[in-house]
Amino acid sequence: MQDATRHYINGQWVTSIDGCELAVENPSTEEKIATISLGGAEDADAAVAAAKAAFPGWANTGPEARIAALERLMDIYKERAGEMAQAISHEMGAPIALAQTAQVGAGAGHLKNTIRTAKSFAFERPLGDHAPGDMILYEPVGVCALITPWNWPMNQVMLKVAPALAAGCTMVLKPAEQAPLSAMLLAEMIDAAGFPPGVFNLVNGDGAGIGAHLTAHPDVDMVSFTGSTRAGVAISKAAADTVKRVSLELGGKGANIIFADADEKAVTRGVRHCFNNTGQSCNAPTRMLVERSIYDAAVVTARAVAGKTEVGPADVEGRQIGPVVSGVQFNRIQYYLKQGTDEGARLIAGGMGKPEGLSTGHFVRPTVFADVTPDMTIWREEIFGPVLTMTPFDTEEEAIALANDTPYGLTNYIQTTDKSCARRVARRLRSGMVEMNGKFGGAGTPFGGTKQSGTGREGGVWGLEEFLEVKAVSDWG
Ligand code: NAI
Ligand code: MG
Repeated sequence: MQDATRHYINGQWVTSIDGCELAVENPSTEEKIATISLGGAEDADAAVAAAKAAFPGWANTGPEARIAALERLMDIYKERAGEMAQAISHEMGAPIALAQTAQVGAGAGHLKNTIRTAKSFAFERPLGDHAPGDMILYEPVGVCALITPWNWPMNQVMLKVAPALAAGCTMVLKPAEQAPLSAMLLAEMIDAAGFPPGVFNLVNGDGAGIGAHLTAHPDVDMVSFTGSTRAGVAISKAAADTVKRVSLELGGKGANIIFADADEKAVTRGVRHCFNNTGQSCNAPTRMLVERSIYDAAVVTARAVAGKTEVGPADVEGRQIGPVVSGVQFNRIQYYLKQGTDEGARLIAGGMGKPEGLSTGHFVRPTVFADVTPDMTIWREEIFGPVLTMTPFDTEEEAIALANDTPYGLTNYIQTTDKSCARRVARRLRSGMVEMNGKFGGAGTPFGGTKQSGTGREGGVWGLEEFLEVKAVSDWG
């Protein structure tokens, strides 16, 4: 078992001042693989103090030197990609192939994009020809608390750490207590890349303890959070007294509208996408809305795809889906599976209990419910497991109404070969993102949601601007 009972504060690995210990579990085996320190208030205070002391120097370092440091980090991240994949796969159960590609790759992609964005970003720019002498300066917000979840660890950590560093902010990262090992590995890489002490700090701990303490801390200027809507609400309230900037990336309940003229792979693609990462993605297309003329055929296809979806331990090479992250998440999903049946949805694949032969590990059966209606719990609430709901629609208008009938607004999906229909519908979906016909957004696309999916946009120019204040100066010359 790995001893990971340390925090990274002011350029040093240090033991906890007032924390206690917590075991990290491998969800494929339920074995304890590491022990971390669940930090206390004094640990958090030490990290914030280091970030505060480092801020003036880092803020005045200038974009070129900050970008050079990020480029050194990029090289190290690539060199140690194999270790990173192992860490993610062990701590949160992503199958090793997925960990090596999408999980680790997302971190590399965001780092690369941040570097590119920062290189072309005008940190100082004139207001305009009409106002000669007026200058607009983009300056770092200050000390940032970065609080991240366990489902896409390096994706979410890098979407915050890289632009915060590029902007000239200093920071305290508190990764998810279920998946801290990848973040600790990143801290080692940041250390090796030679950032000044105190610019980046990492404290381990849980949400109620150190998370809440950081959020309310008077010396923290901004909180950037990814996770549940519940925690996002708590963070917003706790941050209000000190008027922090708060950026939130929360849950989702994405609709995938499949019109009758969609390409023939649309249903299969939609089911697989929903199950990807064992359904633990905020942008998962969990509500499949299918035009009635192809609905019955789509249900048959979805059942077949679910039936063929292999489930298994994360260390096996292959395209299987892994376990969910924890026993807590397993039980939460079981509750939703029971609700689905109790409230009258038609179970067509999967269901409660563990898949055959997988009694150890937090494995969930790939599940599809048909005939799901907006009054049902499984329509309204984020399940965060491999569970798809299917609902028929008759008209474009009805599809739009159904898609928007959710408290969330992160990503919606449209499948149709009719471009004008696709554009019409895309304009009317209330969400931060719309993906059509299986095409993902390109590098630097803004990631974020509307309604209860959050307030922030991460990635590209938008992600950098999250960490920048705008200062207007007159008579600059
Ligand atoms: P969570 O929102 O409680 O945890 C995410 C992060 O927030 C962790 O680092 C946690 O320590 C921290 N945190 C929790 N409460 C906090 C507080 N009051 N103040 C400051 N930090 C706090 O999510 P959890 O319990 O792990 O998962 C529950 C559900 O949340 C999932 O079933 C899923 O529906 C949703 N979720 C959504 C994610 C997304 O990507 N949008 C990621 C993870 C969970
Ligand atoms: Mg929690």
